[in-house]
Amino acid sequence: MILLRRNQANEADEVTSSAMVDRPNAPFRGYDRLRWRQRLERLRRPAWLGTIRRTKPLSDHWGRDRGTPVDRYYIERFLAEEQDAIRGRVLEVMSADYTERFGSAVERRDVLDIDAENEVATIVADLAAADSVPSDIFDCFILTQTLQYIYDVKAAVEHAHRILRPGGTLLCTVPAISRIARLQLESEYWRLTPEACSRLFRDVFARGEVAVRGHGNVLTAVAFLVGMAVEELSPRELDRDDPFFPLVVTVRATKSA
Ligand SMILES: C[S@@+](CC[C@H](N)C(=O)[O-])C[C@H]1O[C@@H](n2cnc3c(N)ncnc32)[C@H](O)[C@@H]1O
Repeated sequence: MILLRRNQANEADEVTSSAMVDRPNAPFRGYDRLRWRQRLERLRRPAWLGTIRRTKPLSDHWGRDRGTPVDRYYIERFLAEEQDAIRGRVLEVMSADYTERFGSAVERRDVLDIDAENEVATIVADLAAADSVPSDIFDCFILTQTLQYIYDVKAAVEHAHRILRPGGTLLCTVPAISRIARLQLESEYWRLTPEACSRLFRDVFARGEVAVRGHGNVLTAVAFLVGMAVEELSPRELDRDDPFFPLVVTVRATKSA
């Protein structure tokens, strides 16, 4: 809520507080002017929420039951752009799906998971404490949509860097905006901005190369949260990246040779 105070020019400044709302007769003319301006703005640009005027999402599975989840559009666009790096000995988390789909000249594929029940995992380890995984062995590590589940995210990035060969590439994606996974209420910790990723990965890949990019915009963020699918948006809507509304952040980080 908004509390207003007068500055020297008797204009209203916005400061955050809940106090003003209960004082409708407060002698703040700037506040009245602002209320009128806001009312005018609502009339000039009415917000028709339509099917998204709901307190529960359309889909409980990121839109997967309606089509392709919107975050996958950006994750897969990134991996398609970076497919030249997916070669040699490749590590992926949970499954080798992206290695198979986007890789070329892959000599060996490995799957890392903390979950010992994962039957396709060739390495069972917590990425934040992965000392059992030897250093300098992977040409590429596809680390998609996983760091949000790891409390010690910096330790995870340090291990990702350590296990790459010199010259090897980490292809990482993280959510900047997302619902919480239904079974992860107590184990999903983070949403990361592009700036957080820049600092984190540049700190760890100090002498390597790091390229960070935010993908998405206000429409795709709302669509994703409510559970709409890629198939319900146009390419023009999907492809506009607004730096103020990143939905997914992608990081390509190369270990110094
Ligand atoms: C949502 S999946 C994401 C991976 C998948 N490749 C994708 O793009 O959707 C998250 C995976 O990370 C694993 N995971 C969670 N915490 C982990 C940790 N600390 N170390 C290693 N794997 C972890 C989970 O068991 C799960 O298989």
